[in-house]
Amino acid sequence: MRQPGDISDTERTARMIRVDHAGEYGAARIYAGQLAVLGRGATGATIRHMAAQEARHLHVFSDMIADRRVRPTVLLPFWHLAGFALGAITAALGEKAAMACTVAVEDAIDAHYRAQADELGVTEPELKNTIEEFRAEELEHRNIGLAHGAEQTPGYGLLYQAINAGCRVAIKLSERV
Ligand SMILES: [Fe+2]
Ligand SMILES: [Fe+2]
Repeated sequence: MRQPGDISDTERTARMIRVDHAGEYGAARIYAGQLAVLGRGATGATIRHMAAQEARHLHVFSDMIADRRVRPTVLLPFWHLAGFALGAITAALGEKAAMACTVAVEDAIDAHYRAQADELGVTEPELKNTIEEFRAEELEHRNIGLAHGAEQTPGYGLLYQAINAGCRVAIKLSERV
């Protein structure tokens, strides 16, 4: 039975699409920031591979936002700047720090997508399939980060915690506003 304060299924799905669109938007900006610094470096091609996948994720959620008339988060201009800054600053610290950023971000997104897929169950099969497919690629990104020495970054634990916590706050905000 629906309780007072519960949100409708439509609003619940809208929140999911809103936050996923925001997350993929932010992810695309993080990789753009990394490429601005490291694009010509040894990891340039690897980062471009991940950036291309993020561009497709963003494209799919942009289409969903339009098709289902979901209001995008008002925070997009902020994620535009914050995402790029996060990518560029960690990249400026070095390739391993950029990869540590990727691990922290993709861990947060993996947990977020996993929770969404569980919540969706058998409703919204198209959305659920999209989430599962993208989650597999986010895990690929995280594993690329680990394979490129993310954990050897000086201060990895702190850097990871700060970025991962920041992502979780960004997710909470982007669901609602
Ligand atoms: Fe993505
Ligand atoms: Fe990703």
